[in-house]
Amino acid sequence: MKRFLVPGAIAIGVLLVIALGLNGGSSGGQASDIEVQNAALVTEGDVLYQASCAVCHGSDLRGTERGPSHLSTIYNPGHHGDGAFAIAAVNGVKAHHWNFGNMPRIPGLSDADLERIVAFVRENQRIEGYEPYPP
Ligand code: HEC
Repeated sequence: MKRFLVPGAIAIGVLLVIALGLNGGSSGGQASDIEVQNAALVTEGDVLYQASCAVCHGSDLRGTERGPSHLSTIYNPGHHGDGAFAIAAVNGVKAHHWNFGNMPRIPGLSDADLERIVAFVRENQRIEGYEPYPP
């Protein structure tokens, strides 16, 4: 009887790994392959994002009537890399993906601030997954 115990445990382990693998570890939306972000940067980025970006992009990043959702799949790192966030804040953005109008430049953010904002956005994309584009 005892010698069946070990293969049994291995079989259960394998099933668990398969089940977790299929689940993708992501809740809702399309799974992302973003790494876990530095928690301190994410917390600080949250504060900055709420102050400078949320009025248009939404406090939950899902957009408002003034700007698009940053959880849209077009803002995945492969399509809008981290640099795109800095460029958007420094130069503003001419409307090209949506019909909300142009994004104005957002003055007063340092490179370190923008790094924190990006960490906050990426962490949310990682946890929430992406919304389809077009919505
Ligand atoms: C006054 C409203 C407004 C505010 C405030 C705002 N945005 Fe935007 N943002 C927009 C709109 C509108 C677009 C969509 C432009 C388009 O049609 O592609 C956009 C697009 C973007 C894009 C995509 C740029 C690209 O290359 O396509 C990024 C990145 C972005 N915003 C980051 C930010 C960040 C970071 C902040 C805060 C520091 C911020 N935005 C604050 C309105 C805003």
